[in-house]
Amino acid sequence: MQNEKTAPNTPRPDLDAAENMTREALEALQLERLRWSLQHAYDNVPHYRTAFDAAGVRPADLQTLSDLARFPFTTKTDLRDNYPYGMFATPLSDIVRIHASSGTTGRPTVVGYTQQDISTWAGAMARSIRAAGGSRNDIILNSYGYGLFTGGLGAHYGGEALGATVIPMGGGNTEKQVQLIDEFSPTIIMATPSYMLTIADEMQRQGMDPAACSLRIGIFGAEPWTNEMRAEIERRLGIDAVDIYGLSEVIGPGVACECIETKDGPHIWEDMFYPEIIDPVTGEVLPDGEHGELVFTSLTKEAMPIIRYRTRDLTRLMPGTARPMRRMDKITGRSDDMLIIRGVNVFPTQIEELILKDEHLCGHYQLVLEREGHMDSLTVRTELRHDLCDSIGRAQRDAIAANLRHAIKSTVGVSSVVEVLPSDSIERTLVGKAKRVIDKRPKQGVAA
Ligand code: DLL
Repeated sequence: MQNEKTAPNTPRPDLDAAENMTREALEALQLERLRWSLQHAYDNVPHYRTAFDAAGVRPADLQTLSDLARFPFTTKTDLRDNYPYGMFATPLSDIVRIHASSGTTGRPTVVGYTQQDISTWAGAMARSIRAAGGSRNDIILNSYGYGLFTGGLGAHYGGEALGATVIPMGGGNTEKQVQLIDEFSPTIIMATPSYMLTIADEMQRQGMDPAACSLRIGIFGAEPWTNEMRAEIERRLGIDAVDIYGLSEVIGPGVACECIETKDGPHIWEDMFYPEIIDPVTGEVLPDGEHGELVFTSLTKEAMPIIRYRTRDLTRLMPGTARPMRRMDKITGRSDDMLIIRGVNVFPTQIEELILKDEHLCGHYQLVLEREGHMDSLTVRTELRHDLCDSIGRAQRDAIAANLRHAIKSTVGVSSVVEVLPSDSIERTLVGKAKRVIDKRPKQGVAA
């Protein structure tokens, strides 16, 4: 629910000092930290020294925050080219943890942390969980995957730093997840939103009412999800579903998180991560409120400072509400997730919104793209809600499909075939991010 409350002007003793800062104080802190981060990168990472020199800029050229626009961007390719440890600014002996994101092609992206970075990250995550409504009195079922993915350990350390009780379940083994919810009575769950739906299905399969379980809050992220998906999860589980954002290159989960009182887009923890929105084509910095690609510069990271990292995530910056720090809008998708179907740009989240507007359908869906002759074809595979599945006959299914087809054509602008399938027809991703798109078209048809 959008709720444009204004930022509070009386400091809250329950928050971190930085969360209470005035804009002026925060910007002064950001400038000081940016200077440090640029110098640290320039002095210790050959890639940054070369890139800054090539662009004709020195860390000392940063006089104001807007001077950051003069510095070069960093991309995933830069990280891959310096695989595995070339982006590290501290000796390996000071690095206590490594994570990596697999990526679909090529080498993984490797990130490293000093002991201080682990503590910074735990602080950002603890702040996120607190914003989401959690406290030391909560029991957190951590269903993000442990391992090279940053979700599991990031949430784990953050929960502990907050003083909450963490159950390190990890992803997968859905029956066990349900058993733990039933027997350990967690009050918070942290998982990808798509996996939350799978857990809810399993609860129903076992004859439990998901809405009657002990959970009161879910902290969901790692993949795009719409406000319609939020409503679906909240309805099924009777919880507050809160959006958490992050990426391994910047630190992991906890770069930004929604506040439970407003649920109006993640607040960016701007004392640690400096955000910009750029035009993805020209690279020009855009004013707050305009849509574009999110770019981050780390302000305090030691092992792997990251300067103007192009996330590929599309969103906009908005003023603070429940906290003074700025918010980002829910992510529409990544520029690399954008599908071009018969010349029309389509994000999977646009289709998700329409699917979940139909009360008969649930949040499991898949988009299948094929090429027939010279024409792209889109098949939208949807599933009936578990509790309605048995009561819906052929004719009603056809009507649901026809309505959705019409909505997709009139809103998104593409023709599609809609399949309305019984429960459990679509393959579930048990660990990690849902695979929403199966693109069977020859490569040149895919957006870069
Ligand atoms: O997904 C970190 C994370 C773990 C975030 C758990 C939240 C919860 P990566 O694997 O590096 O890190 O993937 C980062 O995932 O650039 C976005 O495209 C996407 N993403 C992450 N959070 C959200 C979100 C983790 N709340 C990439 N909404 C990012 C939409 C998200 N997309």
